[in-house]
Amino acid sequence: MTTVARRLGDAPAPESLDPAERMSVDELRALQLERLQWTLRHAYDNVPHYTRAFDEHGVRPEDCRELADIAKFPTTNKADLRENYPFGMFAVPQDQIRRIHASSGTTGRPTVVGYTAKDIDDWAGLIARSIRAAGGRPGHKIHNAYGYGLFTGGLGAHYGIEKLGATAIPVSGGMTPRQVQLITDFEPEVIMLTPSYMLTLLDEFARQGIDPTSTSLQVGIFGAEPWTEQMRSEIEERMNMHAVDIYGLSEVMGPGISQECVETKDGLHIWEDHFLPEVVDPIDGNVLADGAEGELLFTSLTKEALPIIRYRTRDLTTLRPGTARPSMRRMAKITGRSDDMIILRGVNLFPTQIEEIVLRTPGFAPHFQLELTNQGRMDALAVRVEARADTPADRREAAAAELVRAVKESIGVSVACEVVDPDSLERSVGKLQRLLDRREK
Ligand code: DLL
Repeated sequence: MTTVARRLGDAPAPESLDPAERMSVDELRALQLERLQWTLRHAYDNVPHYTRAFDEHGVRPEDCRELADIAKFPTTNKADLRENYPFGMFAVPQDQIRRIHASSGTTGRPTVVGYTAKDIDDWAGLIARSIRAAGGRPGHKIHNAYGYGLFTGGLGAHYGIEKLGATAIPVSGGMTPRQVQLITDFEPEVIMLTPSYMLTLLDEFARQGIDPTSTSLQVGIFGAEPWTEQMRSEIEERMNMHAVDIYGLSEVMGPGISQECVETKDGLHIWEDHFLPEVVDPIDGNVLADGAEGELLFTSLTKEALPIIRYRTRDLTTLRPGTARPSMRRMAKITGRSDDMIILRGVNLFPTQIEEIVLRTPGFAPHFQLELTNQGRMDALAVRVEARADTPADRREAAAAELVRAVKESIGVSVACEVVDPDSLERSVGKLQRLLDRREK
């Protein structure tokens, strides 16, 4: 069991919450409807892509009379943003755009997103709200190791830290030894970075002979990639701090679309005053009832520069009722992206399922890689996982056998497992690429 004996796990004082966080469900739904109607009209009137898509679908903004009417409107996906590269999805004149971000574009044209001054202010407000939900407070020092630049992580978090009234330490990703030195010297209470990069920092603490539980850090806000409950326990125990989840994507805004509350750690509250979530069947696109797992869609409710209608995130999750913020629905931790799903001899498998097994197998470090190859006409999956430094050779073999058995039992498919030496797999400095697809096409 995780034992976190830190101070920052309390709920924020009710009076410090934003008015929207304290709304009743009825007030929130009324606000969402008003904002949704504005967004549909704004998109239809100002973005040729939406004018065309709504017309082809036979819907007009005024057809939205209640929230459920959103299902009548066409969805938007990454290809639509790419086809309108670079600025075709913008709904305001260029001179009102204050900032641009873009995806890395490793798989084609980058997707470009823009923000007006109000969009940036709203975004900063949502990050501030997210950090407060995570346990951060005005006056804290926050080490921000999300990458700065075109990626939305670094600058997105940065403006929110300042808006909260906290102190931003804008370290960005990389230069790992210096990250550890800055944490030791500047004594931040909060750190923001990808969970895989946190593991890299943990190795660096060990290399420098520093006990990571001795640092000033009390809360880590982790996102930008999938991670599991097992990874939460691993990080919380090794760092003696709280680990909470933050979610977002560039096309919808960036980080801060949803955030886990530190006092409950039970999934991420979606900031529904700014985003309307839906979950659909990933195959046929039909809307599913809350509680069913499917693909997450978002419609922005306040964005001026890039209103986004029913964006298909490809992320798989379940909508649940609110807890720590009763009127805002939660999303379960993301299982994975439909794009990351491995179909192995007819069985669907996500890297997060392997992560759960690796982390509960004694002898394994939390570093692993998946490699897909073809063997004849069949696909094969190898799990390459590092042994912990103190794992004896015979334990390595036993651990590999346990993993193979656990994968077979819980997922129903045979994989190979190769145990490699400590420190031999490449480390992440941002988003981790878990899967190497070496299949011949
Ligand atoms: O990764 C935004 C972000 C930055 C979120 C920092 C959190 C912290 P993109 O680069 O557009 O934006 O990637 C978005 O990353 O569709 C998910 O597949 C994945 N992702 C983001 N947050 C989480 C999370 C940023 N908490 C894509 N859990 C999304 C699982 C996540 N996956």
